[in-house]
Amino acid sequence: MHTNHFIDLNDYSLSDINIILDSAINLINNNCEYSKLLNNNILATLFFEPSTRTMFSFQASFLKLGGQYIGFSDPNLSSVSKGESFTDTIKTVSSYSDFIVIRHPLEGSAKLASQYTDIPIINAGDGIHLHPSQTLTDLVTILAELGSLSNLTIGVCGDLKNGRTVHSLIKACSLFPNNKFILISSAELKLPKYILEYIKQHNCSFEIVDNLDKSIDSLDILYMTRTQKERFKDTNTYLTQKDRYVLDVTMLNKAKPSLKIMHPFPRTNELPENIDGHPSAIYFKQIKYGMFARMALFSCIKQGLIKANYSNGLTIENIYCKNTNCVSTNINNFKHLVKHNINCRYQCYYCETIISN
Ligand code: NCD
Repeated sequence: MHTNHFIDLNDYSLSDINIILDSAINLINNNCEYSKLLNNNILATLFFEPSTRTMFSFQASFLKLGGQYIGFSDPNLSSVSKGESFTDTIKTVSSYSDFIVIRHPLEGSAKLASQYTDIPIINAGDGIHLHPSQTLTDLVTILAELGSLSNLTIGVCGDLKNGRTVHSLIKACSLFPNNKFILISSAELKLPKYILEYIKQHNCSFEIVDNLDKSIDSLDILYMTRTQKERFKDTNTYLTQKDRYVLDVTMLNKAKPSLKIMHPFPRTNELPENIDGHPSAIYFKQIKYGMFARMALFSCIKQGLIKANYSNGLTIENIYCKNTNCVSTNINNFKHLVKHNINCRYQCYYCETIISN
């Protein structure tokens, strides 16, 4: 049976992505249109990591479409604390629900969940890997505020190594023609290699820089991100990185008047509150667009308007993932799967890390 999971936005064709975006834009002005679409449907929200916006906007969007929700935001209050496996939790919750939204600290966990159920699994963040519903939010925001998702110079600043919102956003924006990414980070927090390869493979371009002030004048969008404290093994390294990029009003004087500043939130020091009133700041609107983006996602899946294309995982002798934060290396006797990479190498099927022999 084919189920439309939502693990990676790039499992969908560009025309399917445009169907979701058009639906979201329509819902912004017309949000009562599908108020009965999910009557008698139950959403399960399983949050193994903290959340404010993502969990509440999934729940709010489901309620707006006429459905109801169950779930936990603290796995220690579920049988996970008694040692229940992740896959048993998924199989159990599948008996009670019509959609499952999962956030989990291990990369590839949503992909693994999708192999254990026919209920659509929606990835609300799998470790540092991806966060596709935040990306839908970001794309709806860009479309609503700038009118186009092509020919943009997109500055992405901060923790590009650990920021899953950035990984999903760049992969998705690479599908639209003629986008250029200015990747602004310290040498320690650079974008993973597999995403750089993805940009090239899709004929978009990028520049790697370390100075926000010097790059801001060329940008159409500045996507700020926080340093992901919870991903650092060592507090001292975090402290050296945490306030590396702080946006300020004098920098904004050099920017194009049409610049749009975005942020997935939560923010820390990188985005001071005195910028909130600046005409370029659209991050609170972005939060609101997130609910319409998620309503559109549910309604497109429910109505069968989109269809995911999954690549097949391959088993190759002696080729396996070594990423210790990948779901595949955290389960005993795991059957490792890989996929081909454009440069004739292999990537982990779950976390996409390039596997070097
Ligand atoms: C992000 C996340 O959880 O990855 N937040 C969100 O869902 N909007 C960003 C972050 O935590 O920095």
